[in-house]
Amino acid sequence: MSSLKYLFSPKSIAVIGASRTPGKIGYEILENLKEYGFKGKLYPINPHATEVLGLKAYPSITEVPDEVDMAVIAIPAAAVPSVLEECGKKGVKVVVVISSGFKEVGNVELEEKIVEIARKYDMRLLGPNIFGIFYAGSYMNATFGPRNVVPGTIAFISQSGALGIALMGWTVLEGIGLSAIISVGNKADIDDADLIDFLGQDENTRVILIYMEGVKRAREFMNVARKVTTKKPIIVLKAGRSERGMRAVASHTGSLAGSDVIYNAAFKQCGVLRAMNVEEAFDWARAFASLPEPKGENVIIVTNGGGLGVMATDAAQDYGLKLLEPPKDLMDKFRRFMPPFGSPRNPVDLTGQATEREYHGAISAALGDNRVHSVIVLYCETAVADPIKVAEGILKAKQEASMEKPLVAAFIGGVNTARAIKFLNENGVPTYPTAERAVSSLAALYKWSSWRRRASQK
Ligand code: ACO
Repeated sequence: MSSLKYLFSPKSIAVIGASRTPGKIGYEILENLKEYGFKGKLYPINPHATEVLGLKAYPSITEVPDEVDMAVIAIPAAAVPSVLEECGKKGVKVVVVISSGFKEVGNVELEEKIVEIARKYDMRLLGPNIFGIFYAGSYMNATFGPRNVVPGTIAFISQSGALGIALMGWTVLEGIGLSAIISVGNKADIDDADLIDFLGQDENTRVILIYMEGVKRAREFMNVARKVTTKKPIIVLKAGRSERGMRAVASHTGSLAGSDVIYNAAFKQCGVLRAMNVEEAFDWARAFASLPEPKGENVIIVTNGGGLGVMATDAAQDYGLKLLEPPKDLMDKFRRFMPPFGSPRNPVDLTGQATEREYHGAISAALGDNRVHSVIVLYCETAVADPIKVAEGILKAKQEASMEKPLVAAFIGGVNTARAIKFLNENGVPTYPTAERAVSSLAALYKWSSWRRRASQK
């Protein structure tokens, strides 16, 4: 079987069904490809057009006077088989079938037919029933989702079309950077196992996040996942946990949801982290995208609010993080950055009068001490400490540190705090609007790191 490299880095793409009408799916895909800056060649295919979006159009892919690596197909389902035959004859390597109207509506035979044609010509097939594929490395936005996806290192695979498209827009809003977005739909050929195998070796991807309703080739998925998770984390958001949820899955993508207990056990066995909701999944992914692996278990919490520190301490216990009892010499260092009524214990309470100076000093002390392995910074917005300045102080401490350690933050407050959260996230400090989310994300990193060490020793 040919490699998936043509799916992510094709040199040329034909859009079959490149409509002349804005708002139609084929038009939007071509426009996204063009405007996002795809570096290869683009060929609109439309029997009724000579030009679409300023690009020369061809009546059929067989008329294109050049090699075509990938074809994106956006024409009604019934016409897909004959177009696939043409793609095969043309020597296309991979087809991306956007069209709906296959197995998901009971049209099993039509789906089998397109897979058969793809196999006959040794073409790989993504879909059908999908919104497309995005890969930042090739400036390729072959989707009819939002255009300006933020490039980054998180690869997102979605079995749900609508949710996937919605989350594409949401990641733009949240400033979450993506290396790839792959809509897998009916998974008639290319499935999760194929994709994680490829993305596991993809140097642009640091973490893989999958929204899944059911797994197709369970054994292959587990084998590949076990291998990939020793190199990079895989987060799965597996829907259909409840009995009713399972029934909803059956009527949505036709996947066999299977027993949730079995899924849990299987994920555990291959080091896959299971997130319970979208927020948790992306929180963790954000942390994995920018944090180094911890070198030990000792965590220090630095805060300006006692209550927030207590909540983070509770969460640390719930999530299994180990808080360091700071040795005396380290407590003495912390004391230099707090009033007499502060606390140099863990959580290190700088008190409500702390400014960026105290944050910078205490965080530097923690990052510079080799008995500390990770740091959680908490901040409640006060009138004495501008959140942006505090954020800059945190970043400065991180940049000046000689040792690379995981550092996460939680900022709670108003409009300026929201800006500070954005600033820190853009600068590689995963920052959340609650202490629990920061703790949960650091804990996920620890969980994966400990799995990775155990699995690599086997
Ligand atoms: N080769 C090339 N072009 C062709 C061919 C052909 N054989 N046949 C028709 N075309 C042209 C048409 O002339 C048209 O161009 P025009 O508008 O300039 O005339 C264009 O291709 C599109 O064809 P239409 O028949 O107008 O099809 P339409 O755009 O209405 O629908 C589509 C095609 C989008 C694939 C539809 O059938 C479909 O499946 N929609 C669902 C897609 C979807 O939702 N996928 C899952 C996504 S995930 C989610 O749920 C968000």
